[in-house]
Amino acid sequence: MARIPVMAGNWKMNKTVDEAVDLVKQLKSSVSGVKDVEVVVAPPFTALYAVQREIKGSSIHLAAQTLFWEKKGAFTGEISPLMIREAGCEYVIIGHSERRQFFGETDESVNRRIKAALGQGLKPIFCIGETLKEREEGKTFSVIERQLEGGLKGFGEKEVLPIIIAYEPVWAIGTGKTATPQQAQEVHRFIREKVGRLYSKDLAEKIRIQYGGSVTPENVKGLMEQDDIDGALVGGASLKSETFSKIVRFREI
Ligand code: PGA
Repeated sequence: MARIPVMAGNWKMNKTVDEAVDLVKQLKSSVSGVKDVEVVVAPPFTALYAVQREIKGSSIHLAAQTLFWEKKGAFTGEISPLMIREAGCEYVIIGHSERRQFFGETDESVNRRIKAALGQGLKPIFCIGETLKEREEGKTFSVIERQLEGGLKGFGEKEVLPIIIAYEPVWAIGTGKTATPQQAQEVHRFIREKVGRLYSKDLAEKIRIQYGGSVTPENVKGLMEQDDIDGALVGGASLKSETFSKIVRFREI
């Protein structure tokens, strides 16, 4: 079964409401007519609702960048799954390495967030990836295995199916140092096999695994040619419609 590639733009803490609306307006026209690629944008919380209004009726999908697992209550500064869905999101990025690194997220809290997202009908983009130190110490696969097992703990096959896994080696994020297509493919293969062992071969064949870390129009094609790479999670290059639309149109490169 062919997996539909998914290209997601993670805008991180960039774009005011006006800037976000401008960008998505441009994107709507620059990706119009693209078939068989799912396009997702993840603006900051403050711009979600405005972007949602702008993309209504288009083929662009909306994601939030994180969430908190409680439904509501005294949790100053946090955003619930319901609020995110109500703002128009279909997806939510969970466990991004910047959240793990700067905001104390762990495999356990990532697992709670995924559970809460699924409970509200949101599709998680579940991020995993090793640091440079871990790679140099030969721990890449054991780290990936731990993050996968921890993040997916307690879920059955049906729950895991809508999840997109994003493999983002921490050393490649925002550094301009992309993993080579072979390095990425090796880990993607490992992730797919691990999903097969945890669940089933059928699920492993269906689940989409994105690569993230310094993806650009220059390197996207080589990555997308790999058997187990089903799309990209794009930071820097998603902040301009010109570069992001080229990534979305990788087949035309
Ligand atoms: P980058 O970010 O493309 O700027 O490296 C990717 C990400 O963090 O999702």
